[in-house]
Amino acid sequence: MTVSLRDARSAALYERALNVLPGGVNSPVRAMRSIGRDPLFMQRGAGGEIFDVDENPYVDWVCSWGPLIAGHAHPAIVKAVTDAAGQGTSFGAPTVGEVDLAEEVSRRVPGVEMLRMTSSGTEASMSAIRLARAATGRTKLLKFAGAYHGHVDGLLADAGSGLATQGIPASPGVPAEVAASTIVVPWNDADALRAATAKHDFAALLAEPFPANMGLIAPVEGFLELLRACADESGALLIFDEVISGFRVSRGGAQELAGVVPDLTVLGKVIGGGLPAAAYGASRALMERIAPAGDVYQAGTLSGNPLAVAAGLATLALLDGELPYANLAATTSALAEGLAEASQSAGYGDDVQIVSTTGLLTLFFSAEPVADYTGARACDRGAYASWCRGLLARGVYAPASQFEAWFPSLAHTPEQIERTVAAAAAAFGDIER
Ligand SMILES: Cc1ncc(COP(=O)(O)O)c(C=O)c1O
Repeated sequence: MTVSLRDARSAALYERALNVLPGGVNSPVRAMRSIGRDPLFMQRGAGGEIFDVDENPYVDWVCSWGPLIAGHAHPAIVKAVTDAAGQGTSFGAPTVGEVDLAEEVSRRVPGVEMLRMTSSGTEASMSAIRLARAATGRTKLLKFAGAYHGHVDGLLADAGSGLATQGIPASPGVPAEVAASTIVVPWNDADALRAATAKHDFAALLAEPFPANMGLIAPVEGFLELLRACADESGALLIFDEVISGFRVSRGGAQELAGVVPDLTVLGKVIGGGLPAAAYGASRALMERIAPAGDVYQAGTLSGNPLAVAAGLATLALLDGELPYANLAATTSALAEGLAEASQSAGYGDDVQIVSTTGLLTLFFSAEPVADYTGARACDRGAYASWCRGLLARGVYAPASQFEAWFPSLAHTPEQIERTVAAAAAAFGDIER
């Protein structure tokens, strides 16, 4: 759409890509359509910065949508992956790293005694659901409107009209009967949650404990505890999808931070340190239902891949001790404060909501606090789009959607935050009131 000299190589690549990749990309958000521009093709990254194929530098607040908590091309991670590759890229047989990583994760995440690795968060969610269904002998799932757990058929369900109705397919190709076994309720709505769990026999209640796929929307006080209680009272299993929050909002994820332990945990992103890896985990008793220990089938040619495991282990090693999380919290706060000042100085102080927790942030174009998907959808997405285009033009790569979170990392520097804040202040001026 917007071809400028600045993006000439990206534009040429996009034209080629459109011939061979649907929409020119391998995952929709990369196409930047929701901010009304064409995608940028990336060449390389270092720390908190990336460079596109036209050699434009950007402060990168996307960081591959979460895996790169240590920033781009961290030397320890690059070395770990290179060393592992030199030993062979895949065996289809167990390796020591998988055991090391499983031990490391179970030390950190309260709800995980045992885990199974997969290659993507989608597979991990899908498999956790299968296990929950096998363990409970039930079929139905409860999910929250605006939450994303991967492109599993039964989870691409939208709320019908009215509260806590049977899900309807969120995409062509999802069978109506599959979506109908998912009940979608509004996030942070205690009454809807209670009503749904009283009415249906759920196999699982599935939640991102810190939802970050409708922008970041924290749980209201007591909501995670209520989820736990509703699961217990109704005989459903509680699944926390910590693909984004795991190892990020704290060492042991949102469950550690909130002190609410789920029955099953889905992990992804950080666990693979930028290579394809994810996992689902639970108590030993539950996980031993998985084949070959038990009868619930699930498998994967590249599950526990040695390169991904090496990157995951190297990443977790960088998250040891108190300091990394103190630094990540400080970086996130500095960014949040800087963006708040930028919005004030540009006269947008009353028109935006800045929400953050360690390692995650969203700036909503909303005059009201945003508590659920309805609130997120009510944001001024046009304003976000022009602000985001303005950021890109000024060398700041922010998520190209009002519904995606920013991902501060350990690698971002005070200078990069300053550059971001200056660009943000100027980009407010691009918005047509
Ligand atoms: C919370 C959450 N769960 C699951 C997934 C799916 O993970 P993947 O893209 O690795 O399939 C995502 C992806 O962004 C996610 O944010």
